[in-house]
Amino acid sequence: MPRLVFERTGFAVDLPEGGAVIDVCDRDIRAGVPFACRHANCGVCRLDVVEGAEHCAPRTDWEEELLVWLKEPEGTRLGCQLRILAGDGLVRLRVR
Ligand code: FES
Repeated sequence: MPRLVFERTGFAVDLPEGGAVIDVCDRDIRAGVPFACRHANCGVCRLDVVEGAEHCAPRTDWEEELLVWLKEPEGTRLGCQLRILAGDGLVRLRVR
């Protein structure tokens, strides 16, 4: 099952079916990801995928548009848009 680790706080959670990172953050404040718009408009929730990018769903169209506009590198994701794929693996995220 995918294991999600938030580097800044050390919080880790298993996601047997994968799912949305924002749901994990809403369930447990220890994830430590700040949100504002929650709709790929502001960029407040930027994360670096330090490990396990292959276990992440591709950027959404809205996410891609904002991150390109912000000139962010490939490994950057928006916490409000990022979905983890089902299956085994480790995804390590660094909050900006
Ligand atoms: S909370 Fe605004 S882009 Fe994610």
